[in-house]
Amino acid sequence: MADIHYIRQKEQKGLGDAILHAARHCDEEPFAVLLGDTITVPCGEAKTCTGQMIDAFDKYQKTVVALEHVPQNKVKDYGIVDGVPLEDGVYEIADLIEKPSLQNAPSDLGAIGRYILTPDIFDILHNIEPGHGGELQLTDALRLLDGSIGLVTSCKRYDIGDKLGWMKSSIEMTMAREEFADELREFMRALLRD
Ligand code: G1P
Repeated sequence: MADIHYIRQKEQKGLGDAILHAARHCDEEPFAVLLGDTITVPCGEAKTCTGQMIDAFDKYQKTVVALEHVPQNKVKDYGIVDGVPLEDGVYEIADLIEKPSLQNAPSDLGAIGRYILTPDIFDILHNIEPGHGGELQLTDALRLLDGSIGLVTSCKRYDIGDKLGWMKSSIEMTMAREEFADELREFMRALLRD
């Protein structure tokens, strides 16, 4: 039911560069970017993270960046947003800084790696210089947009961007599965007894 295209980014030139590779597949339409080192799971009957973001896009007709309040020691790992609250969990983004120090961070609202973008981002990405880490940063392109929306969704997020995070997420998600929970619990109990 879908055409799937796969492009390998041959050099590590940043998220902005990776997104530019998708330009020819976007047909001048809004599109979703879902970074692979984040997993989001809807809570209860709520829509998926992307579903909630599409609703926000439909309402505000602006680029949407999914956000989460991140702990102080993690601020340096995220694009951090300076946002003006519009309604519960919704912000007008005034500025974004890629991986700031805690002192320079405008808030604790971090971009979790889910975006609804519009094709005008491609022109901006073509015209900006590499930023943090010498890479082409989506964050730097987003700050040049004429307004965008930050959304704290109701989803549970798992950060699998580092080895321990991946391991903890696997355990937590497996424990949430009825068919695996008991056996995994027993396995871990035995492991901890050793
Ligand atoms: C990217 C983005 C950053 C965002 C993060 C979320 O960074 O550049 O703004 O907060 O993803 O995971 P990366 O983790 O790829 O270095």
